[in-house]
Amino acid sequence: QPVYLKDYQPPAFRVSHTELKFDLAPSATRVSAVLHMERHPDSAPGRPLELDGERLSLKRIAIDGQELQAGEYRVDEARLTIAEPPERLRLETEVDIDPASNTALEGLYLSNGMFCTQCEAEGFRRITYYPDRPDVMATFSTTVIGDAETLPVLLSNGNPVERGELPDGKHFVTWEDPHPKPCYLFALVAGQLEKVEDRFTTASGREITLQIWVESENLDKTEHAMRSLKSAMAWDERTYGREYDLDRFMIVAVNDFNMGAMENKGLNIFNSAAVLTHPQTATDAAFQRVEGIVAHEYFHNWSGNRVTCRDWFQLSLKEGFTVFRDQSFSADVNSAPVKRIEDVSFFRTAQFAEDAGPTAHPVRPEYYIEIGNFYTLTIYEKGAEIVRMLRNLLGWDAFRQGSDLYFSRFDGQAVTIEDFVACMAEVSAIDLGQFMRWYSQAGTPEIDAHGEYDYANSAYRLTLRQRTPPTPGQPDKQPLHIPVRIGLVGTKSGDDLELTLDGERLGKECVLHLREDEQTLVFTELAEAPVPSLLRGFSAPVKLRFPYGREDLAFLLQHDSDGFNRWDAGQRLTMLALDDLIAAHRNGVEKVMDARVTEAFRGLLTASTDDKAVLAEMLTLPSEAYIAEQQPMVDVDAIHAARDFVKRSLATVLRNEFLTLYRANQSQADYAPSAEQIAQRGLQNVALSYLMSIEDDEAVELAREQFEAARNMTDVRAALTLLVHSSRGDIADPALRAFGEKWAHDPLVMDQWFSVQVTRPQSDAIERVKYLMGHPAFSLKNPNRVRALIGAFAGQNPVNFHRLDGQGYRLLADVVIELNTLNPEIAARIITPLTRWQRYDEQRQALMKAELERIQAEELSPNVYEVVEKALAF
Ligand code: ARG
Ligand code: ZN
Repeated sequence: QPVYLKDYQPPAFRVSHTELKFDLAPSATRVSAVLHMERHPDSAPGRPLELDGERLSLKRIAIDGQELQAGEYRVDEARLTIAEPPERLRLETEVDIDPASNTALEGLYLSNGMFCTQCEAEGFRRITYYPDRPDVMATFSTTVIGDAETLPVLLSNGNPVERGELPDGKHFVTWEDPHPKPCYLFALVAGQLEKVEDRFTTASGREITLQIWVESENLDKTEHAMRSLKSAMAWDERTYGREYDLDRFMIVAVNDFNMGAMENKGLNIFNSAAVLTHPQTATDAAFQRVEGIVAHEYFHNWSGNRVTCRDWFQLSLKEGFTVFRDQSFSADVNSAPVKRIEDVSFFRTAQFAEDAGPTAHPVRPEYYIEIGNFYTLTIYEKGAEIVRMLRNLLGWDAFRQGSDLYFSRFDGQAVTIEDFVACMAEVSAIDLGQFMRWYSQAGTPEIDAHGEYDYANSAYRLTLRQRTPPTPGQPDKQPLHIPVRIGLVGTKSGDDLELTLDGERLGKECVLHLREDEQTLVFTELAEAPVPSLLRGFSAPVKLRFPYGREDLAFLLQHDSDGFNRWDAGQRLTMLALDDLIAAHRNGVEKVMDARVTEAFRGLLTASTDDKAVLAEMLTLPSEAYIAEQQPMVDVDAIHAARDFVKRSLATVLRNEFLTLYRANQSQADYAPSAEQIAQRGLQNVALSYLMSIEDDEAVELAREQFEAARNMTDVRAALTLLVHSSRGDIADPALRAFGEKWAHDPLVMDQWFSVQVTRPQSDAIERVKYLMGHPAFSLKNPNRVRALIGAFAGQNPVNFHRLDGQGYRLLADVVIELNTLNPEIAARIITPLTRWQRYDEQRQALMKAELERIQAEELSPNVYEVVEKALAF
């Protein structure tokens, strides 16, 4: 039952205004709706009126005040159909819904006694009968009725216009949202909430009230989110000329939430993990994540809400653009090179894997069974990389003009990716026809490059060849338009050389437009032989291969003027050493550390640096998942052993340097989530992790001291992880116990306690997972708990998840089967590691496929069905 992009049709009816009334009760909430509708101008006259609706119990239906008779409408489990509606009508319905039993967390549900909603993508149809599609935009007026004592706070989109008391201890608030919106942006929250309030004055002088609503025990965890919100609002005015458009902006934190957060108009709903922070409970990474997500949801007010998507195939129109916007914001307010390094290393680990596996899909898919499965790294992150390429192709000024044109031309409309790209083409006069293939073609393009220096002619010949491997349903790929930013670094001077191409002087850096399968470029008038620095800043989301020697990489690591590529040279150099060590491990040969890597690290540790944040990244070894992504076949044990060996070798030889680094960066000041302090803690903890890899008494003592003395979660958690992941049970267990007792009351901290334990490499990890699933703080019904325990085990503990007795796979499959009925969206996500079976040896492949087949034999939700089907068909 897939839906196809090519089948798009405008809706038969549109809704100009929607009046909703909720009479809240946990297991029987009455939803009354009045829809002011008329036939869509582009609709053929005979088309019936169809309203989506699932799990609704219809109590009443009337048109223009007249009750409908049995034969005048039809209801099945997916929709309500009226065969002969008037051309203009006022449709009234009343339905009962059951929030208390809603464990899927889509539509209206209960979280900790609090009513809340999640409507994107298709959750509104679980609230009332409605044309649940983003191209139907209406103004909303919503009355929320609830018990005054248990539900003192009643929120919805827009502005509160009326409130009052009602009989039976109830009260109500009516909200009006003057901005037409699709129903996926509808939100309602009711519960015992408290708020923190602030103000923001827009560039044009309008005063906005900002509120963050939380449960009372979390009132002290909102400061950072509020600061982030104000800084995002100011940034969007400065950078994109976008002002906020309502008198109030609200954020609500809820404990049970499938994703990070949701951009509902004027009433953003957040997973508590994506908004709450406190120095003692949240790590630096969590602080930065909160800042990015608060900004992301706020930016959606323009890229998503004012201008929305015509249909869900266009999802990346809002998500890709908004991710690009939040990445740029985070880069501007923190360290730009570090933000890029973090985003790219995540992208190359996780999106590349998705693009190479059974669920690979274009940034604009052609069909889907369940749209909930398409909130993916491809739609979000690859979509953002495409927008970034547009920015780079056009330059910022033209890109900004294109963005202005897009927002003004399509304000209040539901549009397509072509509409967006057309604006960019129009303002720049660049032909983006070939570029559009980035949206339709799945898979990661590979560029094979090689070059030679011609001493006699002082010329450098660079050849680039592109190829995109086949993906499911797309056997043949066309060449893409790929911007390759390059510099040539002189081997004598260590400086970027002047680039001359076809007699034209291009400066010290240029962007090559690779459009053909193969292109050769000849740079002339070069005074010295260069080492090429290619794809600077990761100028396109591709795999780049170049036959660099280790000396070349060590040279770039020192001299490349591009911070990102300097880091990347280090990663490549370490990867070459890791490849040898992985092979040695497999062949049972003694492992020998590559001295060039050690010397490169010594250089990093001894050179004085002004950029601690980048240094911390450069000293961080690629993760096991990142290494796995580079291997033709994943050997989890060899990867683990090789990485461990590199770490211990470096720590042994450079022990004093790491110790000095540790001491020089130990936290002293009061905690602030500032870029400077974060960089310092990063260095401190990376140094400690090297020292602890040897597990000598002094290192253990340092870790234990840090665990006990630190006053911020970044340092506490770093030390705890090292203690728990060490082979010394005598030190791990007391630390775990102390931490678990201290934080038993705080679910978000207990999530960290779960993750730290289930990611430990020791062979008891799986027993821990099973034991912890019975812990009172754990629940399969809470997505954060599932991710912290099951997700962390399956995704970040490769040696134990991939145990040869298949126990890791079986455990995951058991969880998927349970979640399939409880929460299909989470089930279909948590299953991901099993869908990557093709990357492992035959024995593991067989075990993983057997588990997928066991899942397939269940009665499956569309979500899990679609993923398992693809995984087994690959
Ligand atoms: N639009 C939200 C965001 O990216 C995510 C909503 C995801 N919803 C879902 N059912 N998967 O900000
Ligand atoms: Zn988003």
